[in-house]
Amino acid sequence: MSAERLLRGRVLSFLDEPDGVEDTSVYRYCEDGAVLIRDGIIVASGDHADVALRASETAQIIDHRPYLLMPGFIDTHVHFPQMQVIASWAAQLLDWLNTYTFPEEGKFADPAHATRIAGAFFDELLRHGTTTAAAFCSVHQASADAFFSAAHQRNLRMIGGKVMMDRNAPDSVCDTPESGYRDTKALIERWHGKGRGLYAITPRFAITSTPEQMAMAGALAAEHPECYVQTHLSENHDEISLTAELYPDAEDYLNVYERYGLLGPRSLFGHCLHLSEREISVMAQTGSVAVFCPTSNLFLGSGLYDEAGLRTQNVRRAIATDIGGGTSYSMLRTLDEGYKVLQMQRQRLHPLKSFYWITLGNARCLSLEDKIGTLDPETEADIVVLNSRATSAMALRMETVTSLSEELFVLQTLGDDRAICQTYVAGEPTQQSVPEATDS
Ligand code: GUN
Ligand code: ZN
Repeated sequence: MSAERLLRGRVLSFLDEPDGVEDTSVYRYCEDGAVLIRDGIIVASGDHADVALRASETAQIIDHRPYLLMPGFIDTHVHFPQMQVIASWAAQLLDWLNTYTFPEEGKFADPAHATRIAGAFFDELLRHGTTTAAAFCSVHQASADAFFSAAHQRNLRMIGGKVMMDRNAPDSVCDTPESGYRDTKALIERWHGKGRGLYAITPRFAITSTPEQMAMAGALAAEHPECYVQTHLSENHDEISLTAELYPDAEDYLNVYERYGLLGPRSLFGHCLHLSEREISVMAQTGSVAVFCPTSNLFLGSGLYDEAGLRTQNVRRAIATDIGGGTSYSMLRTLDEGYKVLQMQRQRLHPLKSFYWITLGNARCLSLEDKIGTLDPETEADIVVLNSRATSAMALRMETVTSLSEELFVLQTLGDDRAICQTYVAGEPTQQSVPEATDS
């Protein structure tokens, strides 16, 4: 353990959202760069020659050349109890939930199981270069305790919350309006702001909460404006129809959450695939975030996220894996599938925007850009080290690459966990060994 570390490599960090593939004004890239870290916080980043001058004589120097140093990736919607649901053969959303997901989540009543899976979950995220996630736990308080406790041990900046669900699911995964409120309150007190942990009030979705429970979720959100709210919105046509039946007085799906005071700049809505004009405009007015989950949307056949439409209407947009509806822990694989979803709609996701999105873009959607998502001084030193030549296919393709944008596109299209050489959490390396640098 070293109080001060100097990481050397090619350094890339975004300052703002790129306007197009030619927009070089919004990122900082240093071919011979460095990041200086003291006590888990970035002191300086930029040209190696400048940054090295700031390092003390005792600083540990780690040379990652020719690899690329970037802020750790951020996953804004993921289900930690679904590690053993991923890759389950099902029809669409409701069948998948009833057949696989609810029975699996029932196992998290057992604290030993929850603890084992929480450990595996963070190991997997870090292997994939993800240093922050907004995660759904199961309905059981024990699952959220296991999640936050494992995150705290690893000093991770993590958002999580126990799902609240009191109908249309087996008893093994149901709470009640009162117990959901009480358990959530206790978890907020235990974990919100403890170390780097942050709490998200998590009514699973309209179908599994009675109006009484939605009201309790709204009360929690009003009592704890410092917490996030996370849920699902407009993912699947059968889900939308059933929601309309269960909430006959609601104008539309979003209005269910709106009536209970669950919208706002700290509210994250997974999917948002089939929104009406009214819903889009209310999302924009309230600063609520529409989370794109491409591998899940394809796997469950849910639909195509309209990035350009939401952008035109000024809706805040994040991107996420949605494990276990999603099929990869990798934000690189997520970008690749997202690219294809947008291609199907004649929308172009350019590589600068891609890497902005999984770093600063997602940090902004979590209102955490002063802490994570960049390599700016005084932010937390969560850093990923990327090898664009990690596989023989990538190395061969890289022979013809002449620009940073092209390299990023190779990483997003061909890359996965093999491209992650190292992941630093608050300045500490998390992977066993740093692979030897090969060709630059
Ligand atoms: N809607 C309600 N719960 C879930 C879930 O676990 N995954 C997905 N993809 N959608 C949901
Ligand atoms: Zn989800």
